[in-house]
Amino acid sequence: MTIRDIYESKLCSAHEAVSHIKSGDYVVLAHACAEPPVLIDAMVDNHQAYENVRIVHMVSQNEGRQYKPEYQKNFKHEGFFLGGNTRETVACGHGNFIPAYLHQIPAVIRTGAVPCDVCLVMVSKPDRWGRCFVGVSCDYTVQAMKSAKIVIAECNDHVPRTPGKDYVHISEIDYIVETSHEVMELQPPKISETELQIAKNCAKLVEDGSTLQLGIGAIPNAVMGLMKDKKDLGIHSEMITDWVVDLVEAGVINGSKKSIHKNKIICTFMMGTKRLYDFVDRNSMIEMHPSDYVNNPTIVAKNSKMVSINAALEVDLMGQVSAESIGLRQFSGIGGQLDFFRGVAMSTDGLGKGIVAMPSTATLRNGMKVSKIVPFLKEGSAVTTPRTDVDYVVTEYGIAHLKWHTLRDRARALIKISHPDFRPELMQEYNKRFCEDYCEI
Ligand code: COA
Repeated sequence: MTIRDIYESKLCSAHEAVSHIKSGDYVVLAHACAEPPVLIDAMVDNHQAYENVRIVHMVSQNEGRQYKPEYQKNFKHEGFFLGGNTRETVACGHGNFIPAYLHQIPAVIRTGAVPCDVCLVMVSKPDRWGRCFVGVSCDYTVQAMKSAKIVIAECNDHVPRTPGKDYVHISEIDYIVETSHEVMELQPPKISETELQIAKNCAKLVEDGSTLQLGIGAIPNAVMGLMKDKKDLGIHSEMITDWVVDLVEAGVINGSKKSIHKNKIICTFMMGTKRLYDFVDRNSMIEMHPSDYVNNPTIVAKNSKMVSINAALEVDLMGQVSAESIGLRQFSGIGGQLDFFRGVAMSTDGLGKGIVAMPSTATLRNGMKVSKIVPFLKEGSAVTTPRTDVDYVVTEYGIAHLKWHTLRDRARALIKISHPDFRPELMQEYNKRFCEDYCEI
């Protein structure tokens, strides 16, 4: 049989494909922009056929109809990360959050700790060797395709064929639904004056020849916008977005000083615009690997001059970071934050830097301004990164260097970069905790 024959033998309608899902099944959705919208819509349209189907996923970019209260009996949510379309579902008790590092999630699926009866995914059309590329996601998605009893794929001719390990052979897919639509896009965020100032402070910590990991959001984008004057940067990052295109075109990202995967951009997923997806298509500079490789702290540690920049919700006066919950309310997830900070802390050249970058304050929905540097994390908040794994905290007011500093010095450094409106109460706590009057050093 030719590749074409195999492909055609698996073709069916979306409605027929989702009829293979049974009540009680665990359905793993491909991650982020690799979610298959046509299949998800067909599954939700077919909701009356199911009871208690567990939807397993991480960053969910689709509209999220399956999480709506009217489908409670049909679908339950099991998330490794929560977002705008899933937070309420879990808060109301119609779903669960599973704490796990991103580097562990392929193993969670491989070992059956979270079963994978059906995997719903979007892939490229097969190439002449029969390889179907997920293109924008490798992370746990490829493992889910390998572990699933049934793999149902949208074969979409807009999915890029990104080099690396983000593919399965057509023979590993059970049902194919042919589609042709743009891959979901994430537009670059607007950058505020405060975020720009934070980015300027972060940029001071990035030396020429560094290898970078950055999270999602305005601050990472602002940091990369300031990298035009740097030289020979490398990327080993869980996620990449459109800044990669600008900085490769400007000759800044070339990976020439990387200690592993020289000249390559290594990532495990991407979210960006069509410009990014066109850029990575068959681009030998890019390599996608699963998250148990990219995010594995022992692999991260092999990168020379590794700089990891991630955000936080709150940091306490000892340097403990909560990036995922506000009290007991699960807000997002663990992702790769500690994977990278641990890798940096273990870096073989001893030059790694783990940076928490965040505004000094947050404005709540009721208009109240709160300090993000606090004496104590909110009751119930999860510690995403312990104080031992944070090297620097950066706000618009400056840089606090915490690594291997005493609790007293850490508290002083953090007060110095907190918002002036909140310094008096932080100083008061300092005085009480350390039995001395706070003084700037
Ligand atoms: N107390 C109460 N609310 C707070 C808060 C605090 N200390 N800090 C932030 N918030 C609120 C904000 O007001 C905002 O509310 P809104 O949605 O009503 O506007 C919301 O939380 C998000 O804040 P924002 O500053 O916009 O966050 P962000 O989009 O930059 O994301 C994290 C920050 C920490 C949530 C995000 O980076 C994350 O989920 N990280 C965990 C995983 C990780 O770091 N992975 C590594 C790389 S992908």
